[in-house]
Amino acid sequence: MLEYYDRRAPEYDQWYMGTGLFAERDRPGWHEELRELCAAVAALPAATTLDVACGTGFLTRQLRGAVTGLDQSAQMLEIARERIPGGRVVQGDAVPLPFEDGSFDRVFTGHFYGHLRGGERERFVAEALRVSRELVVVDSHLRPDHDAEEEQQRTLNDGSVHGVYKRYFTGAGLAAELAGGEVLHDGDWFVMVRVSAPSSAPSA
Ligand SMILES: C[S@@+](CC[C@H](N)C(=O)[O-])C[C@H]1O[C@@H](n2cnc3c(N)ncnc32)[C@H](O)[C@@H]1O
Repeated sequence: MLEYYDRRAPEYDQWYMGTGLFAERDRPGWHEELRELCAAVAALPAATTLDVACGTGFLTRQLRGAVTGLDQSAQMLEIARERIPGGRVVQGDAVPLPFEDGSFDRVFTGHFYGHLRGGERERFVAEALRVSRELVVVDSHLRPDHDAEEEQQRTLNDGSVHGVYKRYFTGAGLAAELAGGEVLHDGDWFVMVRVSAPSSAPSA
């Protein structure tokens, strides 16, 4: 995965922009919904936020408040650094997160949760809710031409082919999976769900 994302970094935003290899894809309503998604991210209350697996920072730059971007890929972070005010980026792994308990108000993550398999998901959510009070997950909406879970073969501009595990979600499905999540966006292409850390029991 690291080699794939390092190689993909310079062309990653072509997926969002519908250019390069994505120019020929028929994606009705994609650009309109992407604008809606960006507006929904920008409408989150300002908070100290850790964007886990921030990639190029395409969505990160919509977040309000002091934002730190974390990613395993140096090539992704080179691009994200220019987009995050103050250039606060950390190269590291999402599980475990290299931060103390309660370091942030919020963990945000885009198009990362859906790449996690089995127990990795639970470990990631537990880590996110250890370092912050809430987790906001953006991911890909279930599409008629995709299964909910796929082993994909992806081709980059240089012709190299990479195996990628990928899931697609409905808003309700992701909210249920995240145990009590609140659906913030549920379109044709994207979902966004917020889940809060369980509040600690009042002392007797
Ligand atoms: C599909 S991209 C998503 C980028 C961005 N968040 C977005 O929504 O467009 C997935 C990102 O996850 C990063 N990544 C994958 N596994 C990771 C891990 N274990 N720890 C940190 N970053 C990881 C990759 O380097 C890549 O930048």
